[in-house]
Amino acid sequence: MEFAPRRNTGNTSANTAFVREIYQRFIEEFNTVAEYTAIAIAASDRYPAVAKLFDELARVELAHHTRLGQILRRLGVERALQWRGSQGGGRRQASPFASEAATAALFEAKIAGEMEDAATYRRLMRDANDMRIAAILQEIATEEEGHATALAAMQARLGRS
Ligand SMILES: [Fe+2]
Ligand SMILES: [Fe+2]
Repeated sequence: MEFAPRRNTGNTSANTAFVREIYQRFIEEFNTVAEYTAIAIAASDRYPAVAKLFDELARVELAHHTRLGQILRRLGVERALQWRGSQGGGRRQASPFASEAATAALFEAKIAGEMEDAATYRRLMRDANDMRIAAILQEIATEEEGHATALAAMQARLGRS
């Protein structure tokens, strides 16, 4: 599934690159909700604690999606969202928990992704010229760092078992 912004009608005052990147984060956070929820489902049989963690992360990512939507409104971006519907495909993929190597790779990738997201939000925070927007972006950055920490702790816990 995918959202797409309609052509921008007016509002040239806002920094276009900044707005575009906030919009991109808005979409990415939503995609992460679906991805993390799917990971939780894949983990549920063998790793209930992992399933619980990814469910919790998905809830926070959904809150990020919502808050980025608030930022878009605050920026005065009037972009009607066009629902393109499912992209189809439905390619079958192996479970990320099919092997120890696959599980390790999953955690490595997700920890790196969370750290990258945190860095992106810190950069956007510095680019924001609105205190309220900067504060929201800082909170999200801190939560993304917390996600990386929680995932690393779970990875260590699995390694010991
Ligand atoms: Fe997030
Ligand atoms: Fe996150």
